[in-house]
Amino acid sequence: MEKLMIRGGRPLRGTVSISGAKNSAIALLPAAILAESEVRLDNLPHISDVEIYKELLQELGCRVSWQEETLSIDPTGIQSIPMPNGRVKLLRASYYLMGALLGRFGEATIGLPGGCNFEPRPIDQHIKGFEALGAIVTNEHGAIRIKANELRGARIYMDVVSVGATINIMLAAARAKGSTIIENAAKEPEIIDVATLLNAMGAKIKGAGTETIRIEGVDRMHGCRHSIIPDRIQAGTYMIMAAATRGDVLIDNIIPKHMEALTAKLQEMGVHVYEMDESIRVVGQQDYEAVDVKALVYPGFATDLQSPMTSLLTQTTGVSILSDFVYSNRFKHVPELARMGAQIRVEGRSAIVEGGKLNAAKVRASDLRAGAALVVAALTVEEGVTEITGLEYIDRGYERLEEHLRGLGADVWREA
Ligand code: EPU
Repeated sequence: MEKLMIRGGRPLRGTVSISGAKNSAIALLPAAILAESEVRLDNLPHISDVEIYKELLQELGCRVSWQEETLSIDPTGIQSIPMPNGRVKLLRASYYLMGALLGRFGEATIGLPGGCNFEPRPIDQHIKGFEALGAIVTNEHGAIRIKANELRGARIYMDVVSVGATINIMLAAARAKGSTIIENAAKEPEIIDVATLLNAMGAKIKGAGTETIRIEGVDRMHGCRHSIIPDRIQAGTYMIMAAATRGDVLIDNIIPKHMEALTAKLQEMGVHVYEMDESIRVVGQQDYEAVDVKALVYPGFATDLQSPMTSLLTQTTGVSILSDFVYSNRFKHVPELARMGAQIRVEGRSAIVEGGKLNAAKVRASDLRAGAALVVAALTVEEGVTEITGLEYIDRGYERLEEHLRGLGADVWREA
């Protein structure tokens, strides 16, 4: 079992350049199959989720190849093959194949998705959307079968604001007959990114990034070239690491506007944060104030940064309350942080974090962001080496993590 070894206590210093966004990448890849010629995606991250998606598209008959940071997807040979099992189970975002294959072929059979299962993550809103577009959805031995004789545009009100369901409905509706209106849509930057790609492929989508998205279905879509947005969660994780280690780090190649909720919270704690056009500099301080954090849908504080933020809040001199209003129980990192000496109590949707020093321990990442939380915590530990297992989760979303951390002066290595 591979372990990440971290000897903490060193302030991170230097520059880190952020790759393309994981949660965009794994939606842009399936979106490409709606085109009838080659789609080229620039600035894609080299992470395991992207590799798995690449293999899924190859299974469907696409030709997919890397040229450095650019992935070319040629969907000319694609077929609608049922995928009840296999790789689809490795990835939560395999659910985007439902919308994309439905849009392209009017049918799809996809095994229920896997991924970071930190709590039950239903897909009822995705299904509600497909049904509204005229599809019949059945559950066949754990795989979802979706079939429509003709996809017709519809007005769909989302009962829950969902990133995945909003994107999935956009994918299916892009080639449906007539107009679709998605109300109470999610507004995350990744949604705008997917709409931008689809429009470059010939779709007619307006309003992405607001709560009402209008889609005028088109008959055909074509290839194009698209550059993915930077990963705001990866960027946020490095901002948190810089603050936690009392370092001085320039986080480069980002969209500072995407970081506003985190920037404001860090400043409230007493961290110095300087925004530039495409970068943010975070200068840590010795003393931090306790703050309360509420994870909400965008543009609120991102739930994906809630776990790393928990670790940073252990570095304050008071008691902070961190609540997650997106997921009801995303706190699997808390017992692991407790092994490192953290004083944290979970009550309902909130973690109550008391400031205090952490110590080295053997801990396990139970999902991607829980893993990020453990790395942040380990970097603050002044004596000894922290051993983190469960690296398969961390590798899903952080490109070249150790290389970046070493570049910033951290003492980090991997052991078999
Ligand atoms: N929900 C439903 N029904 C649905 C869909 C969602 O009740 O049909 C609920 C969920 O249970 C959750 C809330 O709605 O409580 C929001 O879920 P959402 O659908 O927005 O999440 P997602 O699309 O499955 C994406 C990211 C997550 C990120 C969330 C929220 C991908 C593949 N995943 O998930 O990223 O936490 O949006 O921003 O894009 C991560 O990167 O570590 C990660 C988990």
